[in-house]
Amino acid sequence: MANKTLAIIKPDAVKDNYIGEIISMITKAGFNIKAMKMIHLTKAQAQKFYEVHKERPFYNDLIDYMTSGPCIPIALEKENAVEDYRKLIGATDPTQAEEGTIRKLYARNKQFNAVHGSDSDENALREIAFFFSEKELLENYYD
Ligand code: CMP
Repeated sequence: MANKTLAIIKPDAVKDNYIGEIISMITKAGFNIKAMKMIHLTKAQAQKFYEVHKERPFYNDLIDYMTSGPCIPIALEKENAVEDYRKLIGATDPTQAEEGTIRKLYARNKQFNAVHGSDSDENALREIAFFFSEKELLENYYD
């Protein structure tokens, strides 16, 4: 059964011109793109999206980072999407990420780490709904 996950190409990777390389790695790994857009998050949007991290010491830096330029949220579908996508992107800190992963190749450091990936099926649906309406999701297109 196909599951969904939310990827975001974060502002550092957009600025560093890695959009094409990252999307290519995602589609070559067998993910189908269900929806995609480029958006410059407002502070309020970023605070809402990262609400779960609001007690963390890096929260304010994270909000500044995610509002520093446009990012590209992408709704993805694949069997085992959440786990497979997290394998593809590698560890949060690129120095800890495996060779050949997106973060190893394109992240600047632990904070400016190029991409986001949902951490559970439940969060994936919540995060996809944060960025995309039902109408924007290409349901059944790849069937
Ligand atoms: P991600 O794991 O996708 O979601 C939380 C983000 O917070 C993380 O990526 C980084 O961009 C950022 N982050 C995590 N740890 C730190 C840290 N120690 N200092 C600054 N930013 C961090």
